[in-house]
Amino acid sequence: MSKEHLIIFDTTLRDGEQSPGASMTKEEKLRIARQLERMRVDVIEAGFPAASNGDFDAVRAVAEAIKDSTVAGLCRAFDKDIARALEAVKPAKSGRIHTFIATSPIHMEKKLRMAPDDVLLAAQHAVRFARNGIDDVEFSCEDAGRSDLDFLCRIIEAVIKEGASTINIPDTVGYNVPEQYANRIHQLRERIPNSDKVIWSVHCHNDLGLAVANSLAAVMAGARQVECTINGLGERAGNAALEEIVMAVHTRQDVFPCVTRIDTTQIVAASKMVSSITGFPVQPNKAIVGANAFAHESGIHQDGVLKHRETYEIMRAEDVGWNANKLVLGKHSGRTAFKARLKELGIEVEGEQVLNAAFTRFKELADKKHEIFDEDLHALMSDEMVLTDDEHYTLVSSMFHSETGEAPQARLTLSAGGTERHAESSGSGPVDATFKAIESVAVSGSELLLYSVNAITTGTDAQGEVTVRLAKDGRIVNGQGADTDIVVASAKAYLNALNKLCSGQEKLNPQI
Ligand code: KIV
Ligand code: ZN
Repeated sequence: MSKEHLIIFDTTLRDGEQSPGASMTKEEKLRIARQLERMRVDVIEAGFPAASNGDFDAVRAVAEAIKDSTVAGLCRAFDKDIARALEAVKPAKSGRIHTFIATSPIHMEKKLRMAPDDVLLAAQHAVRFARNGIDDVEFSCEDAGRSDLDFLCRIIEAVIKEGASTINIPDTVGYNVPEQYANRIHQLRERIPNSDKVIWSVHCHNDLGLAVANSLAAVMAGARQVECTINGLGERAGNAALEEIVMAVHTRQDVFPCVTRIDTTQIVAASKMVSSITGFPVQPNKAIVGANAFAHESGIHQDGVLKHRETYEIMRAEDVGWNANKLVLGKHSGRTAFKARLKELGIEVEGEQVLNAAFTRFKELADKKHEIFDEDLHALMSDEMVLTDDEHYTLVSSMFHSETGEAPQARLTLSAGGTERHAESSGSGPVDATFKAIESVAVSGSELLLYSVNAITTGTDAQGEVTVRLAKDGRIVNGQGADTDIVVASAKAYLNALNKLCSGQEKLNPQI
């Protein structure tokens, strides 16, 4: 018997971005969107276009670039928001408007200050207005997990009549437990007379650690769209993790009545990309994408796995994209091989100039590090892509000095708006000295919120990938840098963050 399709709706670029500090630039959103498309996600929620011009531009850019996934824009149930979202998703080959209004007593009374009948009218109007501009309209009852079931039945029946084709039941505050949430989906599908006209969707937050369990229980009760994020990124404790939902359905085909179309081998690459762009690390024991998710430490387990893999493994690491860091290129590899490998990795290089610059940096890296893995190429290219002609600060050269009993020193030459500037400072360590030296030139007055270093591959010659999060006047930016010298990587990451602050590329977190 052929199975039903489970729609995977990824909201990393919208709900994921609402995590404080996870704000992304348009270019970063585009890179993630391309990886999501490569992974064959059905719907990519690219942002909240009415939140800011930056968000609008990013949603529009994703809508222009993506061909194989539907691109959705979120909007409140206001004409102005919906019109802005319609404009943003217009270039998409397949676009969707996702409009929402709160339906729980506490939200209606305390936040919206609206009577339930007025909320119902606003919802009907919003869906009608959206349907005038586009065929694919999703309606969400915010805080549905705490809403009155009778009221949900009334409002949902009404918006289906207005032409909504997907109905989403968010557990906005992560309050539900699996049986209760599944029962809610079941009841709604049973009681609403036109319920068979729509796809039922779920959107669970992880406040009690139940987002994935609740989503999967709802799938058993008939939901056929799951809203989720890479690495479970999202507001507060996050959203349901895409990789866990997909692999549960994939691995337990004996239990689930549906299949996804996800290319699971792209999962680890997506996880690493989101972690590196946002600076949110993945805990080592995280299911599917944690560094230890497939590691067997105990002797008994190792013995079992060596004798017969399935004694302790229910999934194959390579099926989710682990072990993909095979040796690809080296110091003797030419430009053609470099370009071909980038293409195989799905990295698009726009223009000969970018390719030439990237190839020069590849050669420099290959001189320092003889084995170049796919992960190195990803880091190198993300470094290359953040460097644009209008970078205000770049690192020209650096020298660091550390000696037992002496304060570490950093001596840098920076280019600031095209003028070379020298900077020098001591600090409690070489990274501290470097940041102080940069600040002596930039005088940004920003606050350092996060500094993190990650080894991209194994071995002491691995590149270190650094994230620096800076805050200034309520704006938060993440800067990245990669190098085999982690102090140089740190300097690059700090300068990248400063460049984002200068250019205003980032935006305020679109809190809704
Ligand atoms: O959690 C939530 O309720 C949401 C909606 C806007 C879908 O993110
Ligand atoms: Zn949410």
